[in-house]
Amino acid sequence: MAERHRRGGYAVSAPLGRFIVLEGGDGSGKTTLALGLAEALRERGVDVLVTEEPSRGPVGVLLRQLLHAGPLSPEAMALLYAADRAHHADAVLLPALARGTVILCTRYLLSSLAYQGPHLGMERVLTLNATALTPDLLLFLSCAPTLGLERAGASRLPDAFETEEVAARAERGYLAGLAYLRSMGQRVVQVDGTQPPATVLRAALEQVLPVLGRSA
Ligand code: TYD
Repeated sequence: MAERHRRGGYAVSAPLGRFIVLEGGDGSGKTTLALGLAEALRERGVDVLVTEEPSRGPVGVLLRQLLHAGPLSPEAMALLYAADRAHHADAVLLPALARGTVILCTRYLLSSLAYQGPHLGMERVLTLNATALTPDLLLFLSCAPTLGLERAGASRLPDAFETEEVAARAERGYLAGLAYLRSMGQRVVQVDGTQPPATVLRAALEQVLPVLGRSA
């Protein structure tokens, strides 16, 4: 029985898959990288699931509505992100891990540390997310907030969340959150998100393949 994917204090039985999280600010290229990685891994015969938070589940759908209509208080939003995370784990992540699937998840706990952390404090966010899964690898796409917003704005209208001030605050939150997760022993690797997609994909694959026990 592997004990890698812990929820709170107890280990989940027989998780054979891998849980890989892709993080980074808006427009840093998470989604593009997730799709590129999925294709590259499938070409190597790996069973891959691409998923995201906010999830496609009921709380995730509510969160996206709230982000567009006007978010609730930071505490209420943090609770909803944590609830979405719990449901996502139960309904999607843990069953996939038990099947031996490699999960590529864009955004996870670090997003809560980055966006809700500056309002509530890291400890409060971690308390709300005490049962979150520990990724086998967290890839952080670094990208200046202004470049990210420029890229995001090029493809769609910005929503209430995507102002420069929020992006800059999130950037500071990301750095603090990354330091926190590293200090807790999580495997975190930073990839330069300003590089062309093919370069980012190559750099990410070099990190992902060894986690799957394969050579790059
Ligand atoms: P995102 O996937 O970037 O939305 P979109 O599909 O519109 O690109 O995520 C939506 C927003 O949710 C994003 O601005 C960051 C925010 N968020 C948090 O504040 N905390 C969290 O825990 C998560 C997962 C996301």
